[in-house]
Amino acid sequence: MNQHLTVVNHPLVQHKLTLMREKETSTAVFRQLLREISQLLAYEVTHELPMTTKRIETPLVEMDAPVLAGRKLALISILRAGNGLLDGMLELIPSARVGFVGLYRDEKTLKPVKYYFKVPDLLGERLVIVVDPMLATGNSSAAAVEMLKEAGAKDIRFLCLLAAPEGVARMKEAHPDVPIVTAALDERLNDKGYILPGLGDAGDRMFGTK
Ligand code: URA
Repeated sequence: MNQHLTVVNHPLVQHKLTLMREKETSTAVFRQLLREISQLLAYEVTHELPMTTKRIETPLVEMDAPVLAGRKLALISILRAGNGLLDGMLELIPSARVGFVGLYRDEKTLKPVKYYFKVPDLLGERLVIVVDPMLATGNSSAAAVEMLKEAGAKDIRFLCLLAAPEGVARMKEAHPDVPIVTAALDERLNDKGYILPGLGDAGDRMFGTK
């Protein structure tokens, strides 16, 4: 994957995303759509995984059949909204290893502070896919990727549902080596850091909080 930003313009992704953006969409439907979209995005973000072959027997003959090569990949959810993308991806990639990064914003410095960090071992030998539905300012995403690099990750991709140009620029500046896959690149952030037109607060919409 050599492009910094990939927008997945697949009709199913775009249709589902429109339903998710609508404010009347219920929590249950929002969650289900996120699960479905995450699998389509997972398809895109994994399409260049290295392959090898394995000798197998079909009921008729022997053959060298393609299988994934290398270590199990690592999915890293940025809490809490990342978990919505994670669930669907795990259905598609059930043997993936899973990590979590929890960050909050310090009210004085406005910088992201880590409150939770638990990731799989041998990160440097795995493809690491960081998931967070909303790439808004990009500050927490850039900080999470920095922490993963410090923990040894070398081959990292970032998967989100919506990206703001500000977040993409922040990530490109901090981590030009990390490709971003998203369902849409929206217009801009508002003065509270929400993506416009966006879909509101992804965590609140998927967990039914306010
Ligand atoms: N996080 C969200 O959940 N929504 C936004 O629009 C921006 C950040």
